[in-house]
Amino acid sequence: MKISTSILSTNDRFKSITKLNNTSTDYIHIDNMDNKFVPNYQLPINEVNQLGEYTNKPFDIHLMNIDPEPFINNLKVDNIISITIHIEIDKNIDKILSLIKEKGYQAGLAIKPNTDLNLIDKYLNKIDKVIMMSVEPGFGGQKFIENTAEKIKILREKSKDLIIEVDGGINNETINYIKDYADIAVVGSYITNKENYEEAINNLKK
Ligand code: DX5
Ligand code: ZN
Repeated sequence: MKISTSILSTNDRFKSITKLNNTSTDYIHIDNMDNKFVPNYQLPINEVNQLGEYTNKPFDIHLMNIDPEPFINNLKVDNIISITIHIEIDKNIDKILSLIKEKGYQAGLAIKPNTDLNLIDKYLNKIDKVIMMSVEPGFGGQKFIENTAEKIKILREKSKDLIIEVDGGINNETINYIKDYADIAVVGSYITNKENYEEAINNLKK
């Protein structure tokens, strides 16, 4: 399983991202929050563009934002693997997914814990990945919701090639609930609350 490290809960994101350059994290997970989709304002576009200059790791961008297009159009980061928007936003999802693909990135849809999983079906041929939320989005450091395991099993049955990423509350124990079906684990506080990031990442990968 690949690890995407979230820098949301770090005090000094520039320092943390520099530190992550010397670890085996596969991606850096960037949580953009607009204080509308979720009650928190984090990682605005200018900060994300600056952070991009400090790392050689690809950005896996998670937009908790009711209006993702301005963010996508103003991105100036060279190394981006994917951009994921939420399926719950009241916008033209197809149009935004096409914009992400035109820019050459993997396109993803994120889904909150209580949203009907079948809403994904009509987008399956337009997306590369799903981010299955295993906490209510908005904050790091929350407890993993255990029924996520059953949901990603259902997702996997819907598509064999879909990249399944799970986000929230993952540590060296809860990662075992998802390892059979998920491709990528997003991990924030379990890694960034530790002094030795690489040791935490190795605990997750073994
Ligand atoms: C929550 C974010 C997550 C979060 C993960 O809304 O999408 O990416 O930063 O942090 P932990 O691993 O601490 O739950
Ligand atoms: Zn996230």
